[in-house]
Amino acid sequence: MQYNYGMIGLGTMGCNLVLNMSDHNFSVAGYDKDMKKTENLNILGEGKNVKGFNDVATFVLSLELPRVIMLLVPAGPIVDAVVKDLKPFLGKEDIIVDCGNSHFTDTQRRIDELEKEGLHFFGLGVSGGEKGARFGPSIMPGGNVDAYKRLAPMLEAIAAKINDVPCTAYMGTGAAGHYVKMVHNGIEYAAMEMIAETYHLLKKHAGLSNEELHTVFATWNKGRLQSFLVEITATIFAEKDDVGEGMLIDKIKDTAKQKGTGAWMSQDAMATGSPIPSIDASVTARILSSMRNDRLVASNIFSDIDISITTDDKLNFIKMVEDALYSAFILTYAQGLSMLKTSSDNYKYHTDLKTVATIWRGGCIIRAAMLEDIMQAYEQEPTLKNILNSDMFIEKIKLSQASLRKIVQLGAQIGIPLPSFSASLNYFDAYKSAWLPANLIQAQRDFFGAHTYERLDKEGVFHTQW
Ligand code: 6PG
Repeated sequence: MQYNYGMIGLGTMGCNLVLNMSDHNFSVAGYDKDMKKTENLNILGEGKNVKGFNDVATFVLSLELPRVIMLLVPAGPIVDAVVKDLKPFLGKEDIIVDCGNSHFTDTQRRIDELEKEGLHFFGLGVSGGEKGARFGPSIMPGGNVDAYKRLAPMLEAIAAKINDVPCTAYMGTGAAGHYVKMVHNGIEYAAMEMIAETYHLLKKHAGLSNEELHTVFATWNKGRLQSFLVEITATIFAEKDDVGEGMLIDKIKDTAKQKGTGAWMSQDAMATGSPIPSIDASVTARILSSMRNDRLVASNIFSDIDISITTDDKLNFIKMVEDALYSAFILTYAQGLSMLKTSSDNYKYHTDLKTVATIWRGGCIIRAAMLEDIMQAYEQEPTLKNILNSDMFIEKIKLSQASLRKIVQLGAQIGIPLPSFSASLNYFDAYKSAWLPANLIQAQRDFFGAHTYERLDKEGVFHTQW
């Protein structure tokens, strides 16, 4: 039998995507070097139109022409190695679809290399973790538009749906799919960091127990903060430790790991000139958390400042933190999407931001009620540079920024680090400043390096003998 699709890499994500595809009546051949993984697929796929192979040649020959071979392997050199192994067996118009978190520059390089040989390389961002892959992820495809047309019916079938609208659509040319996924992940990093900062404030300043934290986040998840990340946070606080007494959250080491997609976004933002301080701060916060031994030494030298508040204050405090988090979430989406707009123009991806907001509403890690408003903001004004300027968000940010200001002030006063909250507020304050002290920086540059400056009252470039 000839299979509709091939999947290389049968780890949990790859295997779950295969099963998802088969639920939608696509037949899929899987390949993995690891026999245990192909056996696992054959067991889980019993009675379905899927089959695991351990030999590349047999796997490739089992596929319908022109072939569509999806990869779910770790990003980096492994993708190149798999492409190299596959190439001798491929023919014109075959498509290799990279579903991993590859760096967009690698994707662009692979597209260019394979194009010369009449093959398509296609970058596909997939978000939603294991469950998403199995039952409906958000899918961010980018690349050759004809290749996309061949993939679209399958992608639309397996993606999450919001009111019957699939959480997948064409993100643009070249490496647009992986670029959009990188921006998704940067926003994910900042949202997680800001929820963690909220946890820090509520636990250490307001003295909330895990049970209370569970209730607070579960309540927030019913309102305007409704989102996957707030929802799972509520669940996490209710999880008992299954290997000892107490709650699991208190047993987990406070050092956050990262695979790098957040840092990639910061690096590209620096390289291309997009301000995304909330995301930069969240990457740095993970790095600082990983320096646990240094932190332990320093904590013995510089003691904590402790300010507790009364129960009455607690309720108001929780309200204020909710407001601050809402404000910071808006500011983070604003930064991420503005960068996406700038980069799409730069790299000529032609990414449509309303479409991005639409497909992020379901299936992905940053899905949130707020994306509905963001989608509408772009609907009202498709060329919107920053959602902060849209009618949808002007009042919302005007009202909630006061709480963000108070929370940041409090954190500074009592020594609770709020890097992403502070960065969000600083972004807002700088963004809305008609005047910034950059005239002085220009004067300094001209003073020591004759770098010249521009004037407000005359056209041209000037230099002064200071
Ligand atoms: C998703 C996630 C996923 C990512 C993890 C881990 O959208 O499903 O973004 O792709 O791999 O979130 O990322 P870090 O290890 O960098 O935290």
